[in-house]
Amino acid sequence: MSAPLPHPAPRPPIAAPLWLLAELTYRCPLHCAFCYNPINYANERAELSTAQWIDVMRQARKLGAAQLGFSGGEPLVRDDLEELVGEGRRLGFYTNLITSGIGLTETRLARLKELGLDHIQLSFQDSTKEMNDFLSSTKTFDLKSRVARLIKQYDYPMVLNVVLHRYNLDHVGRIIDMALEMGVDYLELANTQYYGWGLANRAHLMPTREQVVRAEEVVNQYRARIGNKVRILFVVPDYFEERPKACMNGWGSVFLGIAPDGTALPCHAARSLPGIAFPNVLDYSVHDIWYASGAFNRYRGDAWMKSPCRDCPEKSKDFGGCRCQAYALTGDAANADPVCAKSPRHAEVQAIVMQAQHAQNSHPAVAQPQAKPILFRTDANSR
Ligand code: FES
Repeated sequence: MSAPLPHPAPRPPIAAPLWLLAELTYRCPLHCAFCYNPINYANERAELSTAQWIDVMRQARKLGAAQLGFSGGEPLVRDDLEELVGEGRRLGFYTNLITSGIGLTETRLARLKELGLDHIQLSFQDSTKEMNDFLSSTKTFDLKSRVARLIKQYDYPMVLNVVLHRYNLDHVGRIIDMALEMGVDYLELANTQYYGWGLANRAHLMPTREQVVRAEEVVNQYRARIGNKVRILFVVPDYFEERPKACMNGWGSVFLGIAPDGTALPCHAARSLPGIAFPNVLDYSVHDIWYASGAFNRYRGDAWMKSPCRDCPEKSKDFGGCRCQAYALTGDAANADPVCAKSPRHAEVQAIVMQAQHAQNSHPAVAQPQAKPILFRTDANSR
């Protein structure tokens, strides 16, 4: 290990991380057009070994992290997943597997259950086989349906995640019906976040305002009808909001992500930010990374804020929004997230929303004349 990272401790005192997300690999059998993994993931082949992951987990638990997520890529492509889950449980973490379901055989599920895995979040792309398989560029709908039944059979709380966008927002009612049929306990309907592949495909995925409003109405009708039978979370795309989301509950506040190669990240998309040397667990202790690294201290607190965030009474509520979105849309991560109506760049977000109003709502396989073809997450498209 190198010497502790030189950086003055910022004020006020830093709380311990709550959530450790182990992105075990960028490898994935699916090719989703809205994936938040970096566009250049194919250049990032290195992965921590089993022993290195276990060491990271031990260190993070010692710091106070309580929740441990395994994601990717597809975490099931790692054949040491079971060992990592077992160790996570032994350390006292609440463990969560975030998966497409591909590779979750009954043998593996039974073993994960035996080892004490607490929670599984299964993703679907749509309620229709056609759109599910198109958007993931795989034939996986039937397989996912079988995995959903297995998860129920093994008595897990059924948590279904469906990313929403222009091509499936009108299917929200059918998606909820599918969830009801599957016996889902918790349904996350989260609109696409425009990072990574989602950002590259924004012109295809951005819905119209009418679609968002209609979908929310449908969700509310179902909520009124089915009560608590299925808890439904509906997350509106923030481009349509007047205030930004409190991304990651604040930079370096609760979330510690570790990329497959050991790079420590304060959020899923942080690698898109230039000029920040994100530390690696192979070089520094998790303690020093969390408390003393320049990367994790960069946007902690509010000393880094510029106008209008600096003087905004809501800054302790939304922390100026999302740093990665501020960078993606304005070129400066320290700017206010321009989805905020107080941002001088907000008109640009409104223009993007307006463009979506005028685009044809055709099937994504039918390229719109003005749009580049949809870009699936593949090694060949990675750059
Ligand atoms: Fe990086 Fe929001 S995704 S700060």
